[in-house]
Amino acid sequence: MKFNIPPGVFDLTPINEKEKWKSSYLWAHIEKVIRETTATYSYHEIRTPLFERTELFQRSVGEQSDIVSKEMYTFLDKGGRSMSLRPEGTAPVMRAFIENRLDSLSSCHKLFYIAPMFRYERSQAGRYRQHHQFGVEAIGNGSAEQDAEVIDLLFTFYNRLGLQNLRLCINSLGNSETRSTYKEALKSYLKPYFETLSEESKTRFETNPLRILDSKDPKDQEIVQNAPVILDFLVAEDRWHFNEVQRLLTLLKIPYEINSSLVRGLDYYNKTVFEVVSGELGAQNSIGGGGRYDGLISELSGPDLPSFGFGTGIERVIQTMINQQVNLPQPGFPMIYFIPLGEEAKTICFEFLHALRLRGIPSQMDFVGKKIGKSMQQADQLQAGYAVVVGENEIEKQVFQIKKMKTSEVNFIEFEQFVSKIEQMYLGRKVAH
Ligand code: HAM
Repeated sequence: MKFNIPPGVFDLTPINEKEKWKSSYLWAHIEKVIRETTATYSYHEIRTPLFERTELFQRSVGEQSDIVSKEMYTFLDKGGRSMSLRPEGTAPVMRAFIENRLDSLSSCHKLFYIAPMFRYERSQAGRYRQHHQFGVEAIGNGSAEQDAEVIDLLFTFYNRLGLQNLRLCINSLGNSETRSTYKEALKSYLKPYFETLSEESKTRFETNPLRILDSKDPKDQEIVQNAPVILDFLVAEDRWHFNEVQRLLTLLKIPYEINSSLVRGLDYYNKTVFEVVSGELGAQNSIGGGGRYDGLISELSGPDLPSFGFGTGIERVIQTMINQQVNLPQPGFPMIYFIPLGEEAKTICFEFLHALRLRGIPSQMDFVGKKIGKSMQQADQLQAGYAVVVGENEIEKQVFQIKKMKTSEVNFIEFEQFVSKIEQMYLGRKVAH
């Protein structure tokens, strides 16, 4: 029986010519840039399990949210406990923060993760049932500087990847009183239009009316155009905070636009929320999003610490890089490909292969002993820099013949000098990069 991959998930193979974003060398590059960027901002890595108690997500993301009510992979373990594959990273990180008492270690308040998330969504381009997020959570600081720092980190990451033309949309959801007053105002406004609303928005009218604001249905969109705006309901302190965030973004030269219907699909947010949108992504155009969640840690029975974070989808980041034709890194190719002819040559090559690798020089060797033409073809396919054919003649003279694959230019290097010469060439190449 032949098995196919389940819908909504994907394999990453070393190189995928058809769907380039599924090439693992691109993912390694993104992860490298994530680590470099987070190190610059002094954020440290946290890793949590793939699954948690279901209740954690019900309490944090919200029982009425689509993520929890429709999209979770939930199962009973053999002890009869309800577990869920994590659909997002913030709640597990907060659970781990509280449980490991990280509040007592000041070096553990600024955290990042690179992790798969699981949501049973309708699968389509850019929307997967297992997707991967680079996320950041800054815990314990309620200042506008904290909001701006996290957004700045995200944009530094995008810039380092060469991404451009991303739109940053921001909004403020104020405090919980603001939200409940606003909810009532929104419902009073929507009531006369109730029958014209889409079926989904009708359901949301009672359960989660704020989400009607970002309905994709054109009729709903027309109706909400004249709806009351949450920013008009903010208390003075929250309005000041939102103005400060804007002042700081301007200071850091990060362009933004205010979108008063941006509400986000997770229940834990207050004050600043944001989303980054890419024009190149089609329908699934949100490349990253996040915001402030000051009440979440105490809601989960931890200390009362304000926090701010984001998650950005790695699939969508890579897809945007490809669509914007940014300079992508090259996959790693061997510099030297040894082609031994005969048993003695095999042993010699094997030893030199090891010596090169010890110096960090990527190299390979033909283990099979094919015909020389076939081995050359192999070197070509592997995109090796040089092929080194070793036969009786070379062994007798103790000289390697190295052929540059691109130009077919041939050079001779004595056995004794081979490793140091190749090392010089390799370092020279790296510098030239
Ligand atoms: P989110 O907006 O649900 O936020 O997800 C963050 C990002 O993950 C999205 O902007 C998108 O790029 C990507 N993403 C989400 N679902 C999918 C999917 N099905 N397929 C592909 N990519 C997807 C959160 O998860 C929050 N935990 C972010 C956060 C961290 N807020 C504060 N801290």
